[in-house]
Amino acid sequence: MKNILVLGGSGFIGAHVCEKLVRLGLNVTVATRRRNNARYVMHLPSLTVLELDVHDELALSNAVAGHDVVVNLVAVLHGNQARFERVHVALVQKIVNACLIRGVKQLVHISALGVNGKNPDAAPSMYLRSKGRGEKALELAVQAGVDVTVLRPSVVFGQGDKFLNLFAGLQKIFPVMPLAAASARFQPVWVEDVASAVVNSLGKAAITSEPLRVFESCGPEVFTLAKLVELSAKFAGVNEGRGRPVIALPDWAGNAQAALMEHLPGEPLMSRDNLASMKVPNIATPGMLGLAQLGITASALQPIAQDYLTQGQATHGLLGVRQHAH
Ligand SMILES: NC(=O)c1ccc[n+]([C@@H]2O[C@H](COP(=O)([O-])OP(=O)(O)OC[C@H]3O[C@@H](n4cnc5c(N)ncnc54)[C@H](OP(=O)(O)O)[C@@H]3O)[C@@H](O)[C@H]2O)c1
Repeated sequence: MKNILVLGGSGFIGAHVCEKLVRLGLNVTVATRRRNNARYVMHLPSLTVLELDVHDELALSNAVAGHDVVVNLVAVLHGNQARFERVHVALVQKIVNACLIRGVKQLVHISALGVNGKNPDAAPSMYLRSKGRGEKALELAVQAGVDVTVLRPSVVFGQGDKFLNLFAGLQKIFPVMPLAAASARFQPVWVEDVASAVVNSLGKAAITSEPLRVFESCGPEVFTLAKLVELSAKFAGVNEGRGRPVIALPDWAGNAQAALMEHLPGEPLMSRDNLASMKVPNIATPGMLGLAQLGITASALQPIAQDYLTQGQATHGLLGVRQHAH
C-alpha cells in the first residue's frame, strides 16, 4: 500500500484529494502548521495529521520519511515578494531535497495556470512568477529520477470555494458590483476534477519531451470574470436571480480599488498582484496536456455551481464574505 504525504491537505483542494486517497485505501499523512486547520479531514480513516512547520527543513525531511509519494498543495494567494518566494519557491526546494534524501519516488505538485514554463519571470504577477520558479525547482528532482507531475489549474470552483461564493456574497451586500478586470478570461474547473487529476497522476505517465510533465487543469467552458460574477448571483438567487449591475472598472480604478482592499484587515479580497495575474488569459494552451490525458472528462460549471450556491452559502452577509477571504 502506498503511503502518501499531503502538504496543504487541509485546504480547499487538499481536503478533496485526501478524501479520494482514503477511499482508495491509501495511507495518508496531512502535514499542517496547526492541527485545527486540518479539522475537516482529521477524522477520515487511514489519515494521520502531523503538526509541523513545513518550512523547517529537518521537520519536513522527517515528515517525508517513509512516504512513497508527496503531494504539494501549499500556496498563498496574497503577499509580498518575500512571502511568495518563501512559500512557492524555497519550500519547493526544501520538498525536493527532502524527497531526494528520503528516497521518495513520486512528487505531485499543484501549480497554477498562467505560469510561463519557459521563462517564469516573464509572467505578469509575483504570484505567477514565484509559481513558475517553483516549477523550475522541481527539475532537480526530475534529473534525480523522481517521477514528477505538475498540475496547473485554472480557477477552481466547488462547495466552499473562495471565488463564486465570494462574488455571490458581495452581491448580497452591495447594490452594484464595481469590477476590475471584468473582461479577464477563465476556464473554471471543478474541485473534484482537480482532486481526481492528482489521484490519477499517481498511476499514469504521459509522454512528453518537456523536462516536467505538466497537465493544465481546466473546465470545458471559457467565461469572462463579469459573466462569472453574473452567474454567481443568478445561482445564489441574489435580487431574485437578477444579480447586481456589474460596472467594469478601467485599469486605474481597478488598481485603486485593489490597493484599498490590500489595506483592510485580514487577507484582501483582491490585490493588485491578483489583477496583474489576470493580464494573461486563464485558459487552456493549445497543444498542452490536460485533464483528458489523465482520464478525466471535465465537468461543466452550471449544474454544480447552481447546486451549492442555491443552498445558500452566500447568505452569511459580510461575515461570510470575510470568512471566504481567509
Ligand atoms: N483554488 C483555486 O482556485 C486554485 C487555482 C489555481 C491553482 N491553485 C493551487 O492549488 C493549490 C491548492 O489551492 P487551495 O485553493 O486548496 O489552497 P488553500 O485552501 O489556501 O490551501 C493551501 C494550504 O497551504 C497551507 N499554507 C497556507 N499558507 C501557508 C504558509 N505560509 N506556509 C505553509 N503552509 C501554508 C495551508 O495548510 P495549513 O494551514 O494546514 O498549514 C493550506 O491548507 C495551491 O498550490 C494553489 O496555488 C488553486
